[in-house]
Amino acid sequence: MLIHSIKQLITMRGGAQRGLALGNLGLIENGAVLVQDGIIQEVGSSDAMLRKHPSEDTFDASGFVVLPGLVDPHTHAVWVGDRAREFEMRLQGKSYLEIMEAGGGIVSTVKAVRQSNVAQIVSESRSRLRTMFEHGTTTAEVKTGYGLSLDAELRLLEAILILDETEAIDLIPTFLGAHAVPPEFKNDVDGYTRLVCDEMLPGVKKWWQKNAGSRKLPFVDVFCETGAFNLAQSRRILETAKQLGFPLKIHADEFDNLGGASLAAELHAASADHLVVTSSSDIEALGNSETVAVSLPCTPFGLAEKEYSPAQEMLEKGVTLAIATDINPGTAWCENMQFAIALACRYLKLTPAQAIAAATINAAFAISQNQRVGSIEPGKQADLVLFDIPDYRHLGYRFGVNLAHTVIKKGKIYPIRGYDD
Ligand code: NIG
Ligand code: FE
Repeated sequence: MLIHSIKQLITMRGGAQRGLALGNLGLIENGAVLVQDGIIQEVGSSDAMLRKHPSEDTFDASGFVVLPGLVDPHTHAVWVGDRAREFEMRLQGKSYLEIMEAGGGIVSTVKAVRQSNVAQIVSESRSRLRTMFEHGTTTAEVKTGYGLSLDAELRLLEAILILDETEAIDLIPTFLGAHAVPPEFKNDVDGYTRLVCDEMLPGVKKWWQKNAGSRKLPFVDVFCETGAFNLAQSRRILETAKQLGFPLKIHADEFDNLGGASLAAELHAASADHLVVTSSSDIEALGNSETVAVSLPCTPFGLAEKEYSPAQEMLEKGVTLAIATDINPGTAWCENMQFAIALACRYLKLTPAQAIAAATINAAFAISQNQRVGSIEPGKQADLVLFDIPDYRHLGYRFGVNLAHTVIKKGKIYPIRGYDD
């Protein structure tokens, strides 16, 4: 199939965009993409490629802006239930950490998940994943972390694998057994840390090798935060995971600066995420590492907080910056990466081109999927989104509606909207 006459083809070619190099779109006006067997074969100018491939099936994309499928590198998209009541409590003045201490927050979703079987978890999460896909996300990382016992965490992992197989969106799993301290360990964080290290991580590895075929081990993540795991406990969990062969991630500096970003850089984690109150020395450590900074602007927005990631300082210090939705039932129920782009423009002060790079090629790096997705280049998976906009800057500029017209996943066409007329 030859997708031709693309008004603006945003290729994002050339690899990760570190620091101030962020925002190189690799834009081709009147572009074309040749797709065969779900893989991108050739990218170039429309006139030349139409002449070169006269007998190829065609898809006329005139009037559209085409991007690589969006990559959402940080989500908690697999859960059951909701926390609308807590949202209301927050509006009445309670803080996220106060609600967490009172037994709400993450633990209330944990209670719901512990009472659910795999089929229930799959069925509640499926519609969210479809919504993400309809908004142009073709690959997403998904974390466990609402089970907090080996058994319940494995149900979440199983649900993620089932959803990956049965939905068009590609899912990259992360084990987040250290998301919160479960009620049975309320005053014994060290005890739960030992359980994660001594039983859960080896148990996950064993289960994975038996049930996940040849798939690479999932990432291991930890919520390094006041009220969750301190720096020493986070180190213990991540070092144990690394010894077992797991690739790493961290939640750091969402509310308090505990040094998690530097720990991530030291341990060669794929990414350090949230990063709102990150110190200058932590930013420097990231800038001198391969660890990607994943900023989650929907989260301060969702919590109605004023502070966002210090993105400009990150770029100045050479950090590779990505953005994600963080979709979860507590702080940011948002399926839409287009909205994350719009927030990143306003609160991280990124240009639309920079926010797009952070949501595609750099996001693919944050989950180590850059060989496969994140740009429109020969050899990559044919994951593309056609946006019904006259110029790429309309992403970021406009918000609150879905601008995706068609999603192409592994070469297969999924019509989204605008097909009636
Ligand atoms: O990324 N920070 C920890 N985890 C989530 C919130 C999860 C929840 O509240 O359910 C986050 O914001
Ligand atoms: Fe998160």
